[in-house]
Amino acid sequence: MAEPRAVNRRRLLGGGAAVAGAAGIGWGAASSSTRAVTTARDPMATVPFHGPHQAGIATAPPDHAAFVALDLRPGATRADVIGVLKIWTDDAARLTQGGPALGDTEPELARRPSRLTVTVGLGPKVFGVAGVQARRPSWLAPLPPFTIDRLEPAWCDGDLVLQVCADEPTAVAHAVRVLCKGVASLVTVRWVQRGFRNAEPGASPRNLMGQVDGTVNIAPGTADFDRLVWDDGAAQPWLRGGTSLVLRRIAMTLDTWDEIDRDGRELTVGRTLDTGAPLTGTKESDDPDFAAVDRYGIPVIPPSSHIARAHHTSEGERFLRRGYNYDDAPIPGHTSNSGLLFAAFQRDVAAQYLPVQKRLAEFDALNVWTVPVGSAVFVILPGVRTPGDYLGQSLFE
Ligand code: HEM
Repeated sequence: MAEPRAVNRRRLLGGGAAVAGAAGIGWGAASSSTRAVTTARDPMATVPFHGPHQAGIATAPPDHAAFVALDLRPGATRADVIGVLKIWTDDAARLTQGGPALGDTEPELARRPSRLTVTVGLGPKVFGVAGVQARRPSWLAPLPPFTIDRLEPAWCDGDLVLQVCADEPTAVAHAVRVLCKGVASLVTVRWVQRGFRNAEPGASPRNLMGQVDGTVNIAPGTADFDRLVWDDGAAQPWLRGGTSLVLRRIAMTLDTWDEIDRDGRELTVGRTLDTGAPLTGTKESDDPDFAAVDRYGIPVIPPSSHIARAHHTSEGERFLRRGYNYDDAPIPGHTSNSGLLFAAFQRDVAAQYLPVQKRLAEFDALNVWTVPVGSAVFVILPGVRTPGDYLGQSLFE
């Protein structure tokens, strides 16, 4: 495939930093920074814990998240797995409703739940340990390697996962601490990935490349969401109401991204930076027209652009994107260590996620500035319908 137009254009222009002023964007009327902030987060707000699905997937994403992977200690048994899930169920049911966990050593920190959600999943190994191998979903395995991957084992895999989200980072930190220390005799923490995002309710957030990110997605409460995200129990009856999580840690090479101009950046993704509208439209919500060409016959949205390559080629290739930005301390000699915690939820990883990931790994103009450094796949347990039941109960019955 041809070199991305973004890069060609940079050469034509002789490089040059992409400064906002160059494209006429500044602190004018269109800038959201001049508007009064009217959407204060409510620190007392809670998200229900009980229900057919776990919270934290259809829930509008709070501003902060921590993804925590844990490994079972050597010699762990089925009873240990069940024990961890029972403790987490009790802790999460209390903390998410603004109450302290049993034996909480900092109960005051539980008073501001800030829409806290705790979402629990299992990695492939647990099914063998717990003696339920036949109940393991067929798609539950690490993703195959891709040529774009530069995976660091420190950010990959895991036996159990917690996704903890809340509008206040203190609520996230307290919940993670309680959930991890309560099961420390049975598991060890493998990795923790913290992220953040913010957007006014109903609006899409921006990633750290400055793009509006999250436009094309599956709306909760729709038939599409039910069909594409929630498992219906057809293949594994115990999993009805559950789903899967693919978490990719994708580093952004922001220093080289700085070298391309604004047009180049927009051609790379296929959308404008200002509004997030497709290059063929004027509003973020406009459908991209991948067939549109300019007066020279050149596609307006480059076929190599991220949205052209990521766009589903069949209805079954869609999934929910619910990612968070990360911005960690740079290693010596670098100025940034930022990227995306790309979190995708879908009923079937192999059928829905993999075809899109394979296509992007083959070619995506954005790959020049994005590097997958972590990868993990988990089955997300169904919700706890009845108080007193525990997460994963249907797997062990
Ligand atoms: C769309 C950024 C990685 C799948 C988008 C959009 C942006 C974006 C700005 C357009 C707005 C939107 O619809 O949300 C990024 C960045 C990535 C990344 C910065 C890495 C750091 C991925 C990966 C996948 C993916 C790994 C899947 C394997 C999609 C899909 C769309 C999309 C399906 C919607 C395409 C459409 O139908 O228009 N992404 N993305 N992205 N991205 Fe990504």
